[in-house]
Amino acid sequence: MNLVDKTNKTFALTTPLYYVNDVPHIGSAYTTIAADVVARFQRLLGHRVLLITGTDEHGQKIQRSAEALGKAPQDFCDAIVPSFMSLWEILNIQYDRFSRTTAPRHEAIVKEFFGRVWEKGDIYQGQQTGWYCVSCEEFKEERELLEGHRCPIHTNKEVEWRDEKNYFFRLSKYQTQLEEFYQSHPDFIQPASRRNEVLSFVSQGLQDFSVSRINLDWGFPVPTDPQHTLYVWFDALLGYVTALLEPDAEPTLANALATWWPINLHLIGKDILRFHAVYWPAMLLSADLPLPQRVFGHGFLTKDGQKMGKALGNTLDPVALVKSYGSDAVRYYFLKEIEFGKDGDFNESRFINVLNADLANDLGNLLNRSLNMVKKYCAGNGLTITEETIAADSPLRTIGLSLGEEVQQAYETLAFNQACEAILSLVQAGNKFIDDQAPWSLYKQGQQQEVEKVLYAVLESVRLAAYLLSPVIPNISSDIYQQLGLGINFNEQTKTAIAAPFSIHSKWGILSNKQQLGNPQPIFKRIESPKKD
Ligand code: MSP
Repeated sequence: MNLVDKTNKTFALTTPLYYVNDVPHIGSAYTTIAADVVARFQRLLGHRVLLITGTDEHGQKIQRSAEALGKAPQDFCDAIVPSFMSLWEILNIQYDRFSRTTAPRHEAIVKEFFGRVWEKGDIYQGQQTGWYCVSCEEFKEERELLEGHRCPIHTNKEVEWRDEKNYFFRLSKYQTQLEEFYQSHPDFIQPASRRNEVLSFVSQGLQDFSVSRINLDWGFPVPTDPQHTLYVWFDALLGYVTALLEPDAEPTLANALATWWPINLHLIGKDILRFHAVYWPAMLLSADLPLPQRVFGHGFLTKDGQKMGKALGNTLDPVALVKSYGSDAVRYYFLKEIEFGKDGDFNESRFINVLNADLANDLGNLLNRSLNMVKKYCAGNGLTITEETIAADSPLRTIGLSLGEEVQQAYETLAFNQACEAILSLVQAGNKFIDDQAPWSLYKQGQQQEVEKVLYAVLESVRLAAYLLSPVIPNISSDIYQQLGLGINFNEQTKTAIAAPFSIHSKWGILSNKQQLGNPQPIFKRIESPKKD
């Protein structure tokens, strides 16, 4: 067990704080799975990691959803929040903080932050007129709207006309500073397509945005004028800061920012890019705070090629999916099959085919057939050889030697599909290697040493693949490690101790003849047909 050094690099990352107008949908699950994979990978590197998720509970959208059920907004939120927590539990998400924007300590942080921006002279009163989408909680430009004044994102919802006194934030003042920041930090917004989108939006000229609402009481009062309620997005973005507070710390900005600020990575969907890549950094500049390192906007998921939505009656329930197929299967499909950053599709037959091909056939069979051969050809004694006896030009060794680095780079750039593909190519090479080498014939010819060399190379390949896939499929990887006699549970890497550090386990050749190989058990059962609840 390697202890994580207190002085080690820290890595703080966030999912969006999800609206609680309804139970979680597959979009929220998608971002959260990706965040968990990054967090697990960073922990393997030995970094101190803080994964933040949570809920965004104020604003008109939530207020109306509560009203529709005849509930008080707080009771309504309290009833929905557990559905997020339980989904994260069944999806095997190891988050460190769950930030709720209705928490009293959050109000203290928002007040202090607002005070800073106010003192800076960046807030003023004005008249807001325009089209408002309650589902986005955002004003829209007339030219963005679809026919019938419908929102381009919530296409079945009409925007509402507003003409009211609001407080505004001087976003326009930060135009140049933001542009300079984007230039000097080319990696701030990713992927490149999203960066271009933001640069083009900003170059059209930034307009001040309103940070308060009148005639809405579900939110924090504006500290300088309690007749007004703070705009839900102003409050929500600060939820990331509140989350950084130690559980028993006094809620001050100084305490919140002491250890984990600036945040290393905000993972979001492309629809909320402007808030994170433009408004948020401008608010932070106003408060004289360092800016986050990276904002990554992923794409949207469709089902069977169609936009998902309640109105369309084609939503994909993440709870049902996990209950039918298990958390590793769901995690693997979305990360392996979709390029993170691009839109992607869910289709049940493809889902089943991918899992059967990759996890049941390629990975599962490789482990199974090679462990069975060890049992059969090594008289139940396990392997007697070590890595040194493997030929320098063995094809599996060649792939294995460079795979760790390649996969590290893929995880670091959030190219999860590339990480999975690269790992899978080692597994496929392993299956081919067995077929080519035919250890059953070598055994018949009495070439025991050669048989063991083949089996060693293959089992070491399975081990390495399992290790590198562990952020994505931690349960399956733990089962494989168990069967290889390595007894490591990838769900039990704690904040203070890493059982299988990347510096050691990502390298080729750590399986030794001391390992007591276990009994072969299927690690992923073939799915025969779509499962219904
Ligand atoms: N409350 C705000 C975020 C505030 S962060 C300080 C919010 N919440 S949300 O619940 O509506 O959206 C959460 C995330 O789900 C967003 O990142 C959004 O992109 C994502 N998705 C919603 N539908 C989606 C798909 N169909 N596909 C993929 N992700 C999508 O916005």
